[in-house]
Order: sequence, then C-alpha cells, then structure tokens
Amino acid sequence: MAQFVVTPWDVKGDIDYDKLIKEFGLSPLGPLPDVFTENLLFRRRKVFAHRDFPKILMRIKDKKPFVMMTGLMPSGKFHIGHAILAQQMIYYQKLGAKLYIAIADIEVLLARGQSLEESRKVAVEEYLLNYIALGLKPENCEIYFQSERSQDATKANAYYRLQNTLANHATFNEFKAVYGEITPGKMMASLLQAADMLHPMLPEFEGPIPVVVPVGTDQDPHLRLARDMAKRAKAYKFDTLASTYHLFVPGLGSGKMSSSEKNSYIALTDDPKTVKKKVNKYAFSGGKDTVEEHREKGGDPDVDVAYQYLTFFEEDDDKLEQLYQDYKTGKLLSGELKAILIKKLNAFLAEHQKKRTAAKKQLKKYL
Ligand code: TRP
Repeated sequence: MAQFVVTPWDVKGDIDYDKLIKEFGLSPLGPLPDVFTENLLFRRRKVFAHRDFPKILMRIKDKKPFVMMTGLMPSGKFHIGHAILAQQMIYYQKLGAKLYIAIADIEVLLARGQSLEESRKVAVEEYLLNYIALGLKPENCEIYFQSERSQDATKANAYYRLQNTLANHATFNEFKAVYGEITPGKMMASLLQAADMLHPMLPEFEGPIPVVVPVGTDQDPHLRLARDMAKRAKAYKFDTLASTYHLFVPGLGSGKMSSSEKNSYIALTDDPKTVKKKVNKYAFSGGKDTVEEHREKGGDPDVDVAYQYLTFFEEDDDKLEQLYQDYKTGKLLSGELKAILIKKLNAFLAEHQKKRTAAKKQLKKYL
C-alpha cells in the first residue's frame, strides 16, 4: 500500500481506511436501525466510521430532538464529492434533526486568502443553490457565515465568546498536532470550527442537546481537539460531540475529487457533453488493455472509477451487483461501463440543473 496523507489541509495517496480508523481512534460503523438502510450512503457504508454515534441513534429511535451540525469551505466548483455531505444533511433533516450549517468564509480567508466577498458569491452560487436543488428545506435549518453569525447580538456574542474562551483550553502543541505548520490564522480557524460544532448546545441557541457532525475523515483532527477543549471547559457542561465519517469520492484520475483540479471532478453544473468527455477521457479504468484480454481475464471494478461512481449513483442494489459481476467476468467492457455511468449521471444532472434554476427564487428563505 502506497503512502497516504489525510490531514485537514492535505489529502493524498491511496487511502487505507482501516489504518485511518486505527490511527485516528474512530469506531467502525456498526449495524444500523432499519431507517438508515433506505439511505444509499449508510446502506453501502460510504459513511464508514463514527465517534459516539449510538447516542444519536437513540435520539432518532426515541423521536427526541438533536442537532446535525456541519460546515463547508466555499471555494471552487460544487462537485459530486460535495454532494455526499449534502445528501447526509438532507437525510438528517428528514429524520427530524435541526440543522446548523456553517459557511466557512473565515476559514477560507485565513487558510487560503480568499476574500469574504468571493466566498459569499461561491457559497450562494455553488453550494446553496445545489443544496436546495438536492432537497434541503428552509425549515429547521440555520445556515450562517462564520464572519456573520447572527443579526441577534446575544447569539452572535455567545458564538464568538465561545471561540475565544476555548483558546484557554488547548496548548500550542495541540494546535501544532492539528495544523502541522501553524499560523495565527489557522489557530483562529481551528477555534472557530470548534465553536461551530459546540455552539448549538449554548443556552443562547438550542440549550443542552446532542450534536452530530458528519464530515470527511480529514476533519477528524478538528473533532478531536474540539472534544478535548469541550471537556476541559467545565463552565460550559458540553455534551460530547458525536461525529460520522464518509469515504472520499475518488477523483476521475488518481487521488480524491478536488475542485482545485479541474480534470478530477464532475461538477453539478457540468453539461452532458462535458460529462461524457470527462468520463471517457479521464476516468481511471479497471479494464484490460485489449478487448480479448478483457473478455478473458475480466476487469477490476474495485479500482474502476466509473464503477465506483455507480456505487454512489445506481440506487438499485441488484443492478449494481450485476454490473460488478459482468465487469469482473469480462462480459462488460470498460467503454460500456462508462457509457452506463454517463447516461446515469446525465439523467441525474439534467433533473438537478432544472431544480437548481428553480432554487434561485427560494434563496431568500434560507439566508
Ligand atoms: N473545515 C471544514 C472544511 O474544510 C469546514 C468547516 C467549518 C466545518 N466549520 C465546520 C466542518 C464545522 C464541520 C463542522 O470543509
């Protein structure tokens, strides 16, 4: 297995998720209640690990309130990798969670120098419109910018006060462990993210309530630090944060899908021709070099990017299994598998893009 790196600022290489679970101290996602099997991401274990998730499962079972809190970096194009988190938000909303969604404009400013104005534009055009089109509802949903928590000063003060107070409960070495190369800005961003995750429990917001934070695995260092600080900040009496971790969607080539590499992603605003071109040209194939060899030896669906994407987009488990077998035995060729994916993606995107246009009229209800 090649070297791999998973940190909040860098994800690369061939990720060994079992090793990550051990290194980070996560728990593998165990059996889930039946409601979860209707969600592809949970059913297929795309959400694969957690911390303290069973208490959220209890809340769902008992129909008691809980919060789902997560955040996004508003930079670059919204692609199918981002849709994974959006789908979870929307699923939790259906399950009755109150949603808190942080648009991390301060983090992008501090970590990458992107202006607040640019972030606002990207957040709306790329993220919000796509969330709405994917099914996010305005009810029971607070979306905020880190730079502008609330018009209500009591709330805003409580959020920024928490960020500052948490600084009392961590050491310089802990920040170094999260951020490696540390700057004042990155320290601020890390404290602000901790405040994002913990503030729903403040009396000015929901009061004591369990919070689950669904994230990509690269975000776990933030969770570890936030959990530690929360424990030490005795004056606050925080409930331990729960969190879940999803797999990275592979990029078309190698590595994860990333908006900073334009041949690695399928954007939710890509047109049919672009999708076809990207998949045919860039999607890494698990097929053999010649048709004869492929027919004889079969392809490798486990490394084939087109097949991997179908595991996210083909809802029908039996159909997916059939594709797996047909590809592995050589009955299905690489080009044919790609054609199936292209058709599936383009059907989804056509529908989605219609909804995204319609969403423009809804925007005001969300902000
Ligand atoms: N750091 C996250 C990212 O890189 C964004 C983020 C900001 C976040 N605040 C959060 C994620 C709170 C989860 C919870 O995508």
